[in-house]
Amino acid sequence: MREKTILVTGGAGYIGSVCTELLLSRGYHVIVLDNLQTGHRKAVHPKAEFVKGNIGNKSLLGRLFNGNSIRAVIHFAAETLVTAANTRPQSYLANNLVQGIHLLDSMLKYGCRQIVFSSTAAVYGEPNDVPIEETHDTKPLNAYGDSKLMFEKILTHYGNAYGMKSIVFRYFNAAGCTENYGELHNPETHLLPLVLHVPLRQSDYINVFGDDYDTRDGTCIRDYVHVSDIANAHLLALERMKDLSNAIYNLGNGTGFTVKEVIATAERISQSTIPVRIKSRRAGDPAKLVASAAKARDQLGWNPICSDLESIVESSWLWHLRHKDGYD
Ligand code: UFG
Repeated sequence: MREKTILVTGGAGYIGSVCTELLLSRGYHVIVLDNLQTGHRKAVHPKAEFVKGNIGNKSLLGRLFNGNSIRAVIHFAAETLVTAANTRPQSYLANNLVQGIHLLDSMLKYGCRQIVFSSTAAVYGEPNDVPIEETHDTKPLNAYGDSKLMFEKILTHYGNAYGMKSIVFRYFNAAGCTENYGELHNPETHLLPLVLHVPLRQSDYINVFGDDYDTRDGTCIRDYVHVSDIANAHLLALERMKDLSNAIYNLGNGTGFTVKEVIATAERISQSTIPVRIKSRRAGDPAKLVASAAKARDQLGWNPICSDLESIVESSWLWHLRHKDGYD
């Protein structure tokens, strides 16, 4: 039995694939559990062990925990599209909560008591103030944010009652790519890949959802954080789990950029003109979401090194250029 085995749920997804790559490079043995509903088989690093299945499949989990000495679970698997969450909340609550509870119960049954959980800035809703600290009120605006916040609370209860140790990361806007793994959703809804579709000649323009916000150029401000920096935080969490358990950390860059600034950076890096169409505001979009990541820096020693906007956009551009047809 290997000592450093980590179960990564959702390891065929965007952040999960990058985290798996990093864990493998640090000598961990990784088992990826993913039902491929939104993930990509080819996004799973060839050195990871891949298991296709649901996170709530107790018999499958039983076999995995029985057959491997799994030290910790990194739990990425979830439904994450904010707009879809408003129209079909049942699916979000079933997958993100009910199935998640089955995962926790299987962990307890087989004596695995360490979990790193992917939460989101969506738990804050419309912030009173930026930068947002972890102590800020949590008032999610949609079923996605609610499902993540509820799971955070379940982790607290499982910690208090059953000794489950957890570290929760509230991601702000994950962006950027590594050489091999990148951001690829179907349908794509995220700003940066959609912007890059224009110079890739996959679309003719980018929609900008609202230019009448109370921000420096009227478009929404977001805190873009490089996926490799996010992956690094997970590594630190595994290393520090014993002394920092049941903690919640924001993962953001601490600097916000407007939609127009992202587009201008993409124009510069791709050396293309990216036509813009101004549309009405998208429901549930807060004007500004910027993290205070001071707690992650101070307590975890997290030091984001590639989260400047240039590096994020450039790494994305290079990956998308090489993967015009996605992973196929
Ligand atoms: N936007 C556009 N045009 C597009 C797509 C996005 O103008 O075609 C704008 C959005 O209105 C928003 C910004 O670009 O102002 C960023 O939008 P994304 O959809 O890329 O990201 P969000 O900020 O909506 O969502 C991200 C994560 C969610 C998480 C949320 C936290 O993707 O998982 O941050 O609020 F919940």
